Amino acid sequence: MMKSLLSTLLLLCTLVSVNAVPVVPLSTTDIKAKSAQGLRLLTLAEGVAPVWKTESEVLDLIRGGKKFFDVTETYEVELKIASARTSGDVSIQQTYAAPSHQTAVKAILATMTSANMQTYLTTLTAFNNRYYKSATGASASTWIANTAKDIATKYGRTDVEVSLFAHSFVQSSIIVRIPGTNTANPRVLLGAHMDSINLSNPTSGRAPGADDDGTGTVNLLEAYRALLQGNFRPTSTVEFQFYAAEEAGLLGSQAIATKYKNDGVAVRGHYQLDMTGYFKPGTKEVMALAPDYIDSSLNEFTKLLITAYASIPWGTDLACGYACSDHASFNKVGYPTTYPFEAVTGNDNQLIHSASDTTSVSGFSWSHSLEFAKVAAAFAYELGI
Ligand SMILES: *[C@@H]1O[C@H](CO)[C@@H](O)[C@H](O)[C@H]1NC(C)=O
Ligand SMILES: [Zn+2]
Repeated sequence: MMKSLLSTLLLLCTLVSVNAVPVVPLSTTDIKAKSAQGLRLLTLAEGVAPVWKTESEVLDLIRGGKKFFDVTETYEVELKIASARTSGDVSIQQTYAAPSHQTAVKAILATMTSANMQTYLTTLTAFNNRYYKSATGASASTWIANTAKDIATKYGRTDVEVSLFAHSFVQSSIIVRIPGTNTANPRVLLGAHMDSINLSNPTSGRAPGADDDGTGTVNLLEAYRALLQGNFRPTSTVEFQFYAAEEAGLLGSQAIATKYKNDGVAVRGHYQLDMTGYFKPGTKEVMALAPDYIDSSLNEFTKLLITAYASIPWGTDLACGYACSDHASFNKVGYPTTYPFEAVTGNDNQLIHSASDTTSVSGFSWSHSLEFAKVAAAFAYELGI
């Protein structure tokens, strides 16, 4: 994840041009032919038609901090979803009751430790990088799946399902599912991206990705572990999702969100974690909530969770902008999402996407990161039980 004031300005400019461009749908044959030539189809702003870019143009956009959706593989299913929506499938705004399971939730949160997260992160950052096209990026994905399976085994949970969600590249997304006793209920989703990137040399350069997004990844692993230790048996299915290829245009999260929407999966809420381990020394420590491309009712619920279960307050972040992290993939198809970020933008970690994204950065704080993991577990419990 990387935001800039420029992207905020671009967002403001593009908001006024929504629906200004009449979009002529591309044909399946055209998409197949162009992607076979190695071109990628990107959307760069709200309401603007997608454009074809070469792989090297895509890398230049990433290096320039420009955020986009790579819709090469999801464009057609998105069109299907959009046409279903105009023929009457309007998503209804959901409501969220105040947190009401304090005793049970606090007992689970008391078992969560940064030491567990540090152990997970040591392995994750030891992969040379977790780039979505590299062998080590694929190995990191396998490691996350095996770790989730080991945790289920440790707590005797044969009901938990760990599955690889395969893509057209070597890194798979991972879905860790705690099935609810009522499978008709909308699902509760929590997400983080597993990939990392070295901007100067994506394929083989060093990219430990400790904060971006090793922290979100290990927050979810520890929340999941603590819930199983606490014998969490939800009514609604709860899923921990680890996305491939966020840095390359939100590929993993878009593939999952569009598949779920197209399959008619109902979602209660999605909680995104992307960078939770840093706040600029000397600044106020908060959980900074993205104000855009989120669901305002779910966001109010997250504020209540933070007040009830975290030892730091919530804050309001600056606009994250178009396609800024995986929550945007869920927002795009009409699922409610919320995104607490490590600091108000400007006070966040500036050393990401490089060999320097490590835990030894001054301002990196495990106790800060643990708060995001605790609120993740509380989110899963309060909405899932
Ligand atoms: C990318 O990786 C190379 C080699 O591992 C390293 O020397 C370089 O500093 C990295 N680039 C960035 C932007 O960190
Ligand atoms: Zn990120």
